[in-house]
Amino acid sequence: MKLFIDDADIDAIRYLTEYYPIDGVTTNPSILAKTKRDPRETLKQIRSVIGEERTIFVQAVAADYEGMINDAHMIMDLLGKNTVVKIPSVPVGFKAIAALKKEGIPTCGTAVYTAMQGYLAAKAGASYVAPYVNRIENMGYDGIQVVREIQDILDACGYDCQVLAASFKNSRQVKELAAYGIDNVTCSADIIKGFAKNAAIDGAVEDFISDFQALTGVTSMTDLK
Ligand code: G3P
Repeated sequence: MKLFIDDADIDAIRYLTEYYPIDGVTTNPSILAKTKRDPRETLKQIRSVIGEERTIFVQAVAADYEGMINDAHMIMDLLGKNTVVKIPSVPVGFKAIAALKKEGIPTCGTAVYTAMQGYLAAKAGASYVAPYVNRIENMGYDGIQVVREIQDILDACGYDCQVLAASFKNSRQVKELAAYGIDNVTCSADIIKGFAKNAAIDGAVEDFISDFQALTGVTSMTDLK
């Protein structure tokens, strides 16, 4: 399962990219708004931090068809290869997804709340569909189940499209999707750090080092005399 950072905080992206097995970064207009900076500068900086080989997802903001296509071209010109344009999974978005596919521009049908909405984005030609797990759960529905249903539909229909599950509140939601074989998830920096963060882990690692130090007087194999 590929793991993306759903964040535009440059320091967090730099840290996670250095230490964690990260496949790229996803953004949306709300995430970019939190930076209070020119989004073009933020996006170029993210590209510079993650390198050309990782993938960046950037959303077209315009609400109309022509505007979506123009936004997609601008995003691709700005960020180069390994860029995916997020397009809201609404009727005008389905039209834009289909047109961009003809141009060879990969898209992600985003803002997905129902399985059949995901089906439409995939059928239109999206390379990814992004269901919003926790937002669905906040509405009183089973977000995990919606993602499973979309995965089942993609498999059954044979679309060349992957799930990019988004909007998580905790590790358990991500774990359930990993166990189901979902291809991609995107999580905030804090959720990712939470995968391997608790007092028991820190305590175990500290104990190993202090036991070794009690035996040898040093804290690494290479410091042995
Ligand atoms: O891009 C979609 C995703 O980032 C939404 O996450 O946490 O705002 O529900 P959230």
